Amino acid sequence: MSYPYQINSFDEYQSAWKKSVEDPAGFWGDIAQHFQWKKPWETVLEWNFKDPSIKWFSGAQLNITENCIDRHLADKANQPAIIWEPNDPKEHHRMLTYAQLHLKVNQFAHVLKNNGVKKGDRVCIYMGMIPELAIAVLGCARAGAVHSVVFGGFSAQSIADRLQDAQAEFVITCDGAFRGAKDIPLKNVIDDALISCPFVKRVIVYTHTRSAVSMIKGRDVWWEDEVRKVETAGNPDFPAEVMEAEDPLFILYTSGSTGKPKGVVHSCGGYMVYTNYTFINVFQYKSQEVHFCTADIGWITGHSYILYGPLSAGATTLIFEGIPTYPDAGRFWDIVDKFKVNILYTAPTAIRSLMAFGLGHLQNKDLSSLRVLGTVGEPINEEAWHWYDEHIGKKRCPIVDTWWQTETGGVLISNMAGITPSKPSYATLPMPGVQPILVDEKGDEILENNVTGNLCIKTPWPATIRTTYGDHERCRTNYFATYENLYFTGDGAFRDENGYYRITGRVDDVLNVSGHRIGTAEVENAINMHAGVVESAVVGYPHDVKGQGIYAYVIYNGTHGDEAMVRKDITATVSRIIGPIAKPDKIQLVPGLPKTRSGKIMRRILRKIAEGEIENLGDTSTLLDPLVVEEIKKGRI
Ligand code: WTA
Repeated sequence: MSYPYQINSFDEYQSAWKKSVEDPAGFWGDIAQHFQWKKPWETVLEWNFKDPSIKWFSGAQLNITENCIDRHLADKANQPAIIWEPNDPKEHHRMLTYAQLHLKVNQFAHVLKNNGVKKGDRVCIYMGMIPELAIAVLGCARAGAVHSVVFGGFSAQSIADRLQDAQAEFVITCDGAFRGAKDIPLKNVIDDALISCPFVKRVIVYTHTRSAVSMIKGRDVWWEDEVRKVETAGNPDFPAEVMEAEDPLFILYTSGSTGKPKGVVHSCGGYMVYTNYTFINVFQYKSQEVHFCTADIGWITGHSYILYGPLSAGATTLIFEGIPTYPDAGRFWDIVDKFKVNILYTAPTAIRSLMAFGLGHLQNKDLSSLRVLGTVGEPINEEAWHWYDEHIGKKRCPIVDTWWQTETGGVLISNMAGITPSKPSYATLPMPGVQPILVDEKGDEILENNVTGNLCIKTPWPATIRTTYGDHERCRTNYFATYENLYFTGDGAFRDENGYYRITGRVDDVLNVSGHRIGTAEVENAINMHAGVVESAVVGYPHDVKGQGIYAYVIYNGTHGDEAMVRKDITATVSRIIGPIAKPDKIQLVPGLPKTRSGKIMRRILRKIAEGEIENLGDTSTLLDPLVVEEIKKGRI
């Protein structure tokens, strides 16, 4: 069965794109009719990028969980909504049908309400990749609370920053999470975070790893106890909270070029329509298929293409707790084989790391169920693309290279599986509703092809970022002020003779390490916390597996042990302040940093040195002290 708005040919794609540009309201209004609204909209779209103010489906009311769960009960009650594969392959997997998911989400919405959560309250979710994470997210949405999922790899300090920024009074966590051979003590991390967040009223703790936790009287409650109370009350349905289309659905923090992560806010109506539309069309999803997105729900990819996109389409979505290399590098292929996965959506970094383990792990794995492969999060190099195509897709599965961002909510530029052409390392063409343009440094549109420029989007699509939580001006200056009347992505792109886009990477000070966004300023702030550090500068460099690695130049005052020692200490500091994902790969101790006379660090030079291009540093005449550069070159790691 296909969906009424599924695009079936390149011609259909072209006419859909054309219509979406000429008449966005008509285009999206038609699509939106296929959802369950409690009240219809008055206007499809009102917008200006100046403030910015973006409103989709104004006046409409809905609850996204009715679209993701309730409306499938008539014909899919017994179809698995979620398949869960645990970290340890010897443990049992779990399946939740739509009927079971409905029950659990309703129960949990009651739990939230019983614990004082009201519509509009912010709830921080810090859990491993277990079905209860999905239930917590959907429970919040059902009760009208704004969820803010924090990836399980962030430190106590990072959680505290996010809790404070969102003024979140509620936390949902578990005792711990398994990731490969590791058991991560999530509740302990939360306890550390809450020392500086006394406003948190309630912590709901799910038991997963059975590791020891301290439950604080009056603040912490067990998930299981709370659910039991709802069961004792006879499991009444939870009437889905009535939400305005523009009410916030969630906050998700992401790194930018400043030191402080931004709380990207998405709203209920537009986000729902757009993630559903792109899920169905990019992957060409067919009813009953098993969709396996390997991202973590702590990132936007997990929000949009593990949860909301697939569930709103009535799909079967697979949640995997572990990592691709545990217990061995054949784990993804075991999962594909075991559950007859049809769509596999992963990151180039995962592909590259599995490539490095060789083809042995593919032996005796039946991958014939695969129909579509996808990549996301960073540019995919041609070698990895061909390996994925040949050895995983066996040259019969289209690969969709999906370019998008936390701020865009869903895929903006990608081929559609088997429908629009693919080209290795190109995201290719925009989705209907999306008008990309390239601009030069001055902000003038570049009209010709075979050019590189800064990638901007001309008009809003339904899942455009609405604001940055608590600071709308920050949203404006970050995304809508660089170039007048355009959304600026922060990415550079090349456009070929056919108009296909190839993303070349960030043009701001944001790194993309293993598909995770990390701001250099954030890492510098963390390094500078170490008592022995005078100053630091962080840049990215090409890394075979991670895409980009983190290279830190540090001025050390010599008071905290020898070089090896201080490097370890700095690494530990970054881990504690941000989380292990931001640990520098290389730390070079330097006598000074290359600065201009006005005191600005010349990062271009540092980048070149980190990349190994030491002969060709470009113009260094504006440097205050050119000798420093010679010293840095000598000490390069
Ligand atoms: C990069 C992830 C090249 C890009 C969904 C973007 C990509 C940032 C691709 C957003 C792709 C994402 N090809 N680069 N297919 N997809 N990126 O917010 O630099 O975690 O700006 O969202 O990842 O990262 P984020």
